[in-house]
Amino acid sequence: MQHFEIVGGNRLKGVVPISGAKNASLPIMAASILVDGETILHNVPDLADVRHLQVLLGRLGVKSQRDDSGAMHLRVEDEMNTHAEYELVSKMRASVCVMGPLLAKRKRAQVSMPGGCAIGDRPIDMHIQGLCALGAEFEFVNGDVLLRNKKLTGADIFLGGPFGSSVTATANVLMAATLADGRTIIESAACEPEIVDLANYLNACGARIAGQGTPQLTIEGVSSLTGTEHRIIPDRIEVGTFMIAAALTNGELELQGAQFEHIRAIVDRLRQVGVIVERAEKGLIVSSSRRLEPVQITTQPYPGFPTDLQAQAMALLCLADGNSMITEKVFPDRFLHVGELNRMGAHLRKAGPTVMIEGVKRLVGAPVMASDLRASAALVLAALIAKGTTQVQRVYHIDRGYETIERKLAAVGANIRRVQD
Ligand code: EPU
Repeated sequence: MQHFEIVGGNRLKGVVPISGAKNASLPIMAASILVDGETILHNVPDLADVRHLQVLLGRLGVKSQRDDSGAMHLRVEDEMNTHAEYELVSKMRASVCVMGPLLAKRKRAQVSMPGGCAIGDRPIDMHIQGLCALGAEFEFVNGDVLLRNKKLTGADIFLGGPFGSSVTATANVLMAATLADGRTIIESAACEPEIVDLANYLNACGARIAGQGTPQLTIEGVSSLTGTEHRIIPDRIEVGTFMIAAALTNGELELQGAQFEHIRAIVDRLRQVGVIVERAEKGLIVSSSRRLEPVQITTQPYPGFPTDLQAQAMALLCLADGNSMITEKVFPDRFLHVGELNRMGAHLRKAGPTVMIEGVKRLVGAPVMASDLRASAALVLAALIAKGTTQVQRVYHIDRGYETIERKLAAVGANIRRVQD
């Protein structure tokens, strides 16, 4: 195993190139199952999750490889297999995104139930409900979800769950509906930019989707989709993470490729804290006033403040001048970082889905344990400003979703290195 060793206190200054979005890449790669001919994807980040999905797609007969420019080429070579097995699905929840495409294209999808993870229970009832509304028959076989149908038919589907819309349930139903007979309307669809990117990719392949970016998607089914070339959107969560790195270290970072329109809620909250965000020709420039103001943050589906930045925002507010509050409304149990931040000298108290944050003057380095992807990022951020050395254990979590984070941070002045245990 590997860990990061980080000596805090350096001011970050310079340019950070923003990678393509993990959560746009994964469903779009899965969507290639639907497509006849070759898909070429630009800007797919080189991440553990992406490589996992390539292995799963390989088992499902989709050949994928990168060319010299880094572009990923995907092509279906064999349509026999329809089973996403536990061994691979348990490594990465987003594997569930193959369910809609397999059902629509191969008439059968057997996908192992992903189960819970460090951020909560994470059921997939809405995925199943949406696909059954298109006419699929569902049974549960040895821990696998088995969906079958000879022909999918368009339907009116409400996809709002107990915590609002679901990103990957929307992706699955949207993908399946592209090849269904007739019109599908998805109400309470997820509005995330990653869903818009997926819809844009599918439309470029010949799908007829309207309303992406709004809670109502309309899909006119088509008989086939053909390969296309597509560029993945920039990763807004990586953007937010580096914005917080600039703010914590009183630094100045130019985030190249960052798309302002995707991060309005983040900009709104961070400006309240005292972070200065300016648009630049190629992205954003982020710096900070010396004093960090306390704020209240509630995570929500897009366009609200993203749950995927909740932990990182908490690391920032640990050092605000006063008391802040964060309420998690998407994954109410996503708080494993609280105990670790307290080990670094933070004053955090959790009450149900809310954490009270009493700002402290400084954090101190300590050995800490990453529990999931975004919690790991929060610990790295806290370590950048902590006094002394922090060891962040289990960095494989961070490798799932941040492309060469230690190299990007070191290039702008952080004292961080990856160490083999
Ligand atoms: N939910 C249900 N039933 C379902 C599906 C979801 O009750 O069938 C609930 C969830 O338990 C949660 C809420 O609905 O309370 C929203 O979950 P959602 O389905 O939107 O999450 P997801 O699609 O599984 C994606 C991202 C996550 C991100 C969430 C929320 C991908 C591959 N994953 O997950 O990303 O946190 O949306 O924005 O797109 C990450 O990148 O670190 C990450 C966890």
